[in-house]
Amino acid sequence: MSGNCAYENPEMTRLLGETLRPGGFELTDKGIRYCNWSSEHRLLDLGCGQGATVRYLNDKWGLSARGIDPSHKLIKIARKKGHDEEFKIGKGESIPFDDESFDGVISECTLSLMDDLNQTLGEVFRVLKDGGYFFMTDVYARKPEMLDQLKNDPVKSCMRGLYALAGLKYQLKKRGFQVMMTEDHSEMLKQLLVKAVFEYGSMDAFWKKTTGSCVSNFQEALIKCKPGYYIMIARKEK
Ligand SMILES: C[S@@+](CC[C@H](N)C(=O)[O-])C[C@H]1O[C@@H](n2cnc3c(N)ncnc32)[C@H](O)[C@@H]1O
Repeated sequence: MSGNCAYENPEMTRLLGETLRPGGFELTDKGIRYCNWSSEHRLLDLGCGQGATVRYLNDKWGLSARGIDPSHKLIKIARKKGHDEEFKIGKGESIPFDDESFDGVISECTLSLMDDLNQTLGEVFRVLKDGGYFFMTDVYARKPEMLDQLKNDPVKSCMRGLYALAGLKYQLKKRGFQVMMTEDHSEMLKQLLVKAVFEYGSMDAFWKKTTGSCVSNFQEALIKCKPGYYIMIARKEK
């Protein structure tokens, strides 16, 4: 993968732990309960990073989960900590599994990183069985009218890919999904940002350390978009 991905940087793991996102497993648990997933269900973790969620689903919940991620570095860590066959190199835009292979797809803080969100939604639809659930958590713009200012920024982090929730819902419906629930959990993002400032002195210092870039303009544009965090569950209509 593009080597400049911020999530390959060990500083990210130092700040976030093995789950490279806000909130740890709290929202994962909520999603599993909502979707009523149990041991007979086969799940895909899209953008699995170091594989923490796949291990959690398999070991703590007794589910049958696999993970894909385009980062060779992160997949290598995932395989080392878990089982080789649970992880594959792959992108959301081209999921390396057959049609209708899964009862559920999980995407925790990854949709904002896709090069082509619309194509990814089509791929998720393809690999899901009828009636299967798509469980997402991610950052979003609470002031989407300011999003244009972020688009040309070089920082390869989910924050650059902020989108409007209304747009995501529209695209999901167009693909044949029914949006079942959406909740705002922006306090989880806030807690993480406070932690970053506490550890690194400022958000500028944090971005510099994790992306190697000077990001004052990015930071300013980001604040204007008012980033938030959500959980959403959609269902592939039968
Ligand atoms: C914020 S991290 C989240 C990782 C993991 N889901 C977790 O919660 O720990 C974002 C992940 O998305 C992956 N990613 C980036 N572009 C992707 C793509 N096009 N398709 C799938 N995953 C992608 C990154 O390599 C990274 O592991």
